[in-house]
Amino acid sequence: MKLIADGILVTPAGPVRGDLVLDGGSIADVVPGGVASRDGFDEVYDASGCYVYPGFIDAHTHMQCWTGMDWTADSFETGTRAAACGGTTTIVDYATQDRGTTMPDALAEWHRRADGTCTANYGFHMAIAEWNNETKADIPAMFDAGVTSFKTYFAYDHLRLPDDQMLDVLETIRPGGGILCVHCENGDLVDSLQRRVFDAGVTGPEGHPMSRPAICEAEAISRLMYLAELSGARVNVVHLSTALGLEAVEAAKARGVDVCVESCPQYLILDDTCFLEPDFQGAKYVMSPPPRKPHDRSVLQDALVDGSIDTLATDHCSFNLFGQKDRGVGDFRKIPNGGPGVEHRPALIQTLFADELGPEDFCRLMSENPARVFGMYPEKGRLAAGSDADVCVWDPSVAWTISVKNQHQAVDYTPYEGFEARGMPRYVFVNGELAAENGEPTGAKPGRYVPRHAGCEPRRVDDGPEVP
Ligand code: URP
Ligand code: ZN
Ligand code: ZN
Repeated sequence: MKLIADGILVTPAGPVRGDLVLDGGSIADVVPGGVASRDGFDEVYDASGCYVYPGFIDAHTHMQCWTGMDWTADSFETGTRAAACGGTTTIVDYATQDRGTTMPDALAEWHRRADGTCTANYGFHMAIAEWNNETKADIPAMFDAGVTSFKTYFAYDHLRLPDDQMLDVLETIRPGGGILCVHCENGDLVDSLQRRVFDAGVTGPEGHPMSRPAICEAEAISRLMYLAELSGARVNVVHLSTALGLEAVEAAKARGVDVCVESCPQYLILDDTCFLEPDFQGAKYVMSPPPRKPHDRSVLQDALVDGSIDTLATDHCSFNLFGQKDRGVGDFRKIPNGGPGVEHRPALIQTLFADELGPEDFCRLMSENPARVFGMYPEKGRLAAGSDADVCVWDPSVAWTISVKNQHQAVDYTPYEGFEARGMPRYVFVNGELAAENGEPTGAKPGRYVPRHAGCEPRRVDDGPEVP
C-alpha cells in the first residue's frame, strides 16, 4: 500500500487536509487529519504543501494520427508520457473512421497504435467521416467497446458530414446516452475565404485567421444547437474560441438544449497577433479554430470563471515547425493545422487563474467534469475510496519557465515558450504506479485503455460541494 501523506486533498466535498491511501490500482481510503500510524505502508510520499487532485483528464487529443496533411509529431508513447509529466493521467483521443473504412476498423487501428505504449490512460472518441446504413449499424458495437462519445466535423473536406447526416448521427446515439462532439466551423465559408485571402496576395500564416473569422465558428455552433434541439441529443462544442460562439451556446441553453462546452488554453492565453511573428514563426499557432481577438480571449476567460465553460482540454495535435509546418511557406493553406499542449495545460491554467479559481475549480474543469461528461465518473475524476488510483500531487510553490528545452512533447516548439509557470506536479500516479516525479517521467508505462459508459451532467459552479 502507498500513503500520500499530509496534503490538501481535493475531494468532492471540498479541500481537506489529510492522507490518501492507495492499494494497487484503487484509492483505498481518504483520511482527513491523516492516518493514525504510518507503519505497514510500503511507500510514503510527502505531499506537504501540495494539493492532491484526482488525476487530470484531457478529453481532446490527436496522437499518432494522419490529419489529412501530415502525421502528428507525438505518438501515443511520447504524448501520454508528456501528459503524465504535466499531471494528466488520462487522455481521450479521437480515433477517426476514414472514408471507406468502418468504425470497428478504426477502433482496432487506434488500439494497435496505443496499446502497451502509454504512460497515461487513454480512451477513444470515434470521429465519423462517412455515414450510411452500414456505418450506422456499427454504433452499438462502439458502445459495447466503451466508446460512448462521437465526433463530427462541419469543416475539412475529407471529414465533414452534411446536416441531414449529422441529425441522423444525433438521433442514433441518443438512446444509448451518447454525446456528439462537434468541430464547429462552416467549411464552405472557410474554403471560399481561404481562396479569397490567398488570391488577394496574403500567403503567410496571418492568412489563417483572416480566412476563419469568428462568424464561421458562430454560424456552425448555432446550426449545431438547432440540430441538437431537433434531436434531443446531448452535444459538446469542442475548442470554443469566440465570444460570438458563446452567445449562440447561451441562447441554446436558455431554450433547454443539452449542451456542454469545452475550451482550450490557447483561446484563453493567445490572441491573433501571434500570427504576425516574423520569419514564418506565426505558423506555430496555425490551428483551427485560430487564437482570436483579445476581446474573445477576455470573454472566454470570464466564461471560465463564471462556469459557462464545462471542461478544459487541449486539442493537442502537434506538428514540428521544421519539416512539417514549413511545408506551408508561401501558402498558409498547406500548413498542417494543430499545436501541442497536453503537457502544459495544468500549469498554464493554474498559473493564469490562480487569483480567480480555487483547487475545487481546477478539479471540476480538468478532472471531474471530463470524467462526468465522457462516462468515466466516479471511477475517475474524484478522490474517494473505490475510485481509480490516478492522482496528481500538485506543488503550487514551484516556479519554472515553460520551454521547448524542458518539455517532453516530441515537437520542436511550444506555443507557450517563456511562460512563467507557478506549480508543478511533485508526484503523478497512474493506476497506482508512480509515472512522473517533479515533471520528469519515471519510465513506467501503466497507462491502460479506459472503456467508458454513458456520461452524466457536468458539475456546474452553483452546484456546490457533493454531500457525502
Ligand atoms: O487545428 C486543429 N485543431 N487540428 C486538430 C483537428 C481538430 O480540428 O480538432
Ligand atoms: Zn476540431
Ligand atoms: Zn481536435
